[in-house]
Amino acid sequence: RILILDFGAQYTQLIARRVRESGVYCEIHPWDMSDEEVRAFGARGVILSGGPESVTQIHSPAAPNAIFELGVPVLGICYGMQTMAQQLGGRVTAAVHREFGYAQVTMVAPCRLFDGLRDHSDAQGRAVLDVWMSHGDRVDELPPGFVATGSTNSVPLAAMADESRRYYGVQFHPEVTHTLQGMQLLERFVREICGCEARWDADNIIADSISRVREQVGSDHVLLGLSGGVDSSVVAALLHQAIGRQLTCVFVDHGLLRQGEGDQVMETFARHMGVRVIRVNAEERFLEALKGEEAPERKRKIIGRLFVEVFEEESAKLQGIHWLAQGTIYPDVIESAGAGIKMPDGTVRAGKAQMIKSHHNVGGLPENMKLKLLEPLRELFKDEVRRIGVELGLPREMVYRHPFPGPGLGVRILGEVTKRYADLLRKADAIYIEELRRHDLYDRSSQAFAVFLPVRSVAVMGDGRRYEYVIALRSVETIDFMTARWSRLPYEFLERVASRIINEVDGISRVTYDISSKPPATIEWE
Ligand code: XMP
Repeated sequence: RILILDFGAQYTQLIARRVRESGVYCEIHPWDMSDEEVRAFGARGVILSGGPESVTQIHSPAAPNAIFELGVPVLGICYGMQTMAQQLGGRVTAAVHREFGYAQVTMVAPCRLFDGLRDHSDAQGRAVLDVWMSHGDRVDELPPGFVATGSTNSVPLAAMADESRRYYGVQFHPEVTHTLQGMQLLERFVREICGCEARWDADNIIADSISRVREQVGSDHVLLGLSGGVDSSVVAALLHQAIGRQLTCVFVDHGLLRQGEGDQVMETFARHMGVRVIRVNAEERFLEALKGEEAPERKRKIIGRLFVEVFEEESAKLQGIHWLAQGTIYPDVIESAGAGIKMPDGTVRAGKAQMIKSHHNVGGLPENMKLKLLEPLRELFKDEVRRIGVELGLPREMVYRHPFPGPGLGVRILGEVTKRYADLLRKADAIYIEELRRHDLYDRSSQAFAVFLPVRSVAVMGDGRRYEYVIALRSVETIDFMTARWSRLPYEFLERVASRIINEVDGISRVTYDISSKPPATIEWE
């Protein structure tokens, strides 16, 4: 396995994803991991990430010295290259200005890392790569034993290597897709140079997780809050295979799910797979609590609080439970751990914003239950979770479903939530999603849904005049859900969906399509 040391770059997770995509297991750890921890990790190779600091400052983060004593290959990326250069006796100079964006690196000396990679050729026939740069400082003097392997117009030492020790540095970012050969380069490093086999595939992940769960849990009983979302569904399927009847799932149906969703959860898990699932129909309780409430954040709080309450009540009825399973995945772990980067003087520099999945992951449980936490997906990225989900026999449609917010339709009905509004929205949404699938558009959208607007509008249908509610359709394309662009859905398709909704959903007289981008508009309407 590969050790990735994080110096706080926004791209560190991407490095890990690329390494895993090439079939090799890796973990991200903070740069200040102790020498003992480094030795205990047993890495076949180490990657030093980029970072926002400058190695020319006195108290800048440095890699643990132990990594240079392991005798394994090391790849430094951006800041990682700079700290490697400095720690091994080279020199780095502070930036006059930052370089950001595309650059072309010319391969000026043979190097195992780049061998055979080429996007263009220069006048002398040397290979040139299109890469993505984002840095200020640069290496100005190589450490002993290194040669320059790549140069750009502005950075003469854009890549360096010491083949005898298998140490490599690149000033650019191979982990981003803008660096065209980046994936090949990382794969070359972990597979060929570090000699790791491509063993990290769905079957191995499952076998590995199952044996670890069995070892951890023994003959204890485990409780899982099943929401119907991807992560908790995959946990349910995985735990069912690992420990069978020792697993009990509680599925709180808050009545704000999509059409048929509650039944589908029961069908898939209880009937089809034989998982023990307790379904709690709490629709009335949620609607009662939401009565008269119009403010989005208040609605979210009410739903979240009640969800935990109902889950706790149900769990308290169960006997002999020792573990609470959760669908925490790797990005959740890194996001909450990596909320900042710790400096050598102990201060913490601001990092990525902390994000907590408040509704999917159930909060405080009754004190007397004293449950231990079981998080079998803690080391997996979303795409890995999906792959093992399919492998575990979950329906593809379930595993590749668009994200659905914890408060469900509660934030897609603007203002007050009522049963009638929820029923109208469910019908309209089901038509929209059915048509997206039928037209092969579902997988091209990152998230698509209908929104209920409690305003009324006139339609003339047949001989009658109707004065009814409005549905807005939303579909966005996004990678990270932080920014999003509205989908350019074909007019004919939109026409068909609008016409079906108005004709088939008694109570809706108008349909609109949302063409707002994020930012400034959010993906959800509330
Ligand atoms: P926004 O609307 O903030 O949404 O652009 C970004 C992503 O987050 C989801 N979302 C939520 N998920 N509880 C959740 O579990 C919430 O309260 C919530 N609000 C938004 C949204 O569906 C989108 O995928």
